[in-house]
Amino acid sequence: MSGRSSGGGPWWRDAVIYQIYPLSFRDSDGDGFGDLNGVISKLDYLVEVLGIDAVWLSPFFKSPMEDWGYDITDHTEVDPLFGTLEDAERLIDEAHRRGIKVIIDYVINHTSDQHPWFLDSRSSRSSAKRDWYVWRDGRDGGPPNNWVSVFGGPAWTYDEPTEQWYRHTFLAGQPDVNWRNADLEEAMLDVVRFWMDRGVDGLRVDAAHQMMKDPLERDNPPAPHDYYRPWRNMGEFDAFIHLYDMADPAVHDAHRHLQSVVDSYGRDALTVGEIHIFDLPEWASYYGERLDQLSMPFNFHLMASEWDVPTLRATIESVLWNVPAGAWTNWTMGNHDEHRMASRLPAGHERLAATLLLTLRGTPVLYYGDEVGMVQGHVAKSRDTWGIQVEGFSRDGSRTPMPWEPGPGAGFTAPGTEPWLPIGPDAETRNVETELVDEGSLLNMYRRLLALRRGSKALRRGSFLSDPASTDEVFVYRRESDDETKTVVLNFSDEPRTVSLSPGRIVFDTHDPGRDASIVGPVEAAPLSGVIVSHR
Ligand code: GLC
Repeated sequence: MSGRSSGGGPWWRDAVIYQIYPLSFRDSDGDGFGDLNGVISKLDYLVEVLGIDAVWLSPFFKSPMEDWGYDITDHTEVDPLFGTLEDAERLIDEAHRRGIKVIIDYVINHTSDQHPWFLDSRSSRSSAKRDWYVWRDGRDGGPPNNWVSVFGGPAWTYDEPTEQWYRHTFLAGQPDVNWRNADLEEAMLDVVRFWMDRGVDGLRVDAAHQMMKDPLERDNPPAPHDYYRPWRNMGEFDAFIHLYDMADPAVHDAHRHLQSVVDSYGRDALTVGEIHIFDLPEWASYYGERLDQLSMPFNFHLMASEWDVPTLRATIESVLWNVPAGAWTNWTMGNHDEHRMASRLPAGHERLAATLLLTLRGTPVLYYGDEVGMVQGHVAKSRDTWGIQVEGFSRDGSRTPMPWEPGPGAGFTAPGTEPWLPIGPDAETRNVETELVDEGSLLNMYRRLLALRRGSKALRRGSFLSDPASTDEVFVYRRESDDETKTVVLNFSDEPRTVSLSPGRIVFDTHDPGRDASIVGPVEAAPLSGVIVSHR
């Protein structure tokens, strides 16, 4: 297919992407940390058992692991915790042999403070790399302005030897690189070339809207009380309106340059940017007016939405209206920075959420382990920098080891080895091996749904239309392609509900794997269940 899919356009429009947090997927060498060979050993599961098309791997590059790999000291070396560069090359090959595309994490906003670039930059004011980072004089004996780090505290750290402050959007150990410096830009684009040369199929661009800030570095205004909707507590970061410390218009030029490097490889590689912007027109501007910037900004709107039919429907419709003509979006319900979807959602809503995620118009991005229903883990001693600084928020709970089987080690690591984070609380019952043999399990529901999506052009590419049969409790929508229509019925109520649909055949039921019947007229959906009907 060489990058082209049956529906035309780039391959990723047809794909389902699966995020792997490599530290937590599979430990092949018994040190308690997941690694690249562990990922390779599970590729058959991903393609043959589950049925996904692409993996996004969180960073596996050389790093002191202050932010578990999002602090890089060498972009072109693999950290020994994960293996070697040869392992990474083999992973790309082995994935490709099975038809799986590989997307890597591209940490664009910062490096580790141990990166040779930063060590050089820090060494003196006259260093040739001084301007590769952001160094400023202080103001009135304090930091240059009032910007705070995402993880709390000032976004600036004073450096005694050269008597200046350096900027860091995240930890002090993650200094911001300066994309306004042409040499730095070129060096960072060389990183892209290095991995594109090794065959990767895309980049998930970390903190993509944060890489460019106000050139005048103005103070952020304070945020009024209750300014932010409480979908997660970001501590001190929430005390400000982030007018000046992110999303400067210059970000669009930087993304255009990045995209032109990626496009020069001519294989429709994907760039998906981590863009936490909820104003839809602004969010959509990340595609670029000529669609020459990111392939797509990450779409976190489903995750941030209130969980009821009217709000979800409005959210989905507004997102789709705002995606520019000719562009394409994605949907996600979780990642390594968020609470596990199974724990975030009201009890019993997991199957509804999975069905929604896999039947919307746009590329679904799944988070490892959600397919077996992993719940948020309880981690007594946080290893998450954010968790240490913001009370009541730790990302560790959503990064616990993938449960492959019951018993000690959960098939993640050798029995008797202590995994880097504790095995999650439900791993004895919610794991791949146990669920595979239970026809009605969540995992088998995901498999049925993924197979249905793969085989249906309407579900992959069709238009999205809310159906007039929708109510405040039952979400009904259609996906239509030239010669096929699927109707999705999601019953959010605790009671059975009946909706009238045009004649068709039931091809999927969240709870009843054997349900397969022709219908003419009313179709019943059990409480908190979903049904898909195929017409034509
Ligand atoms: C992104 C990542 C997060 C990381 C941060 C700093 O938000 O998703 O895990 O801590 O960037 O790189």
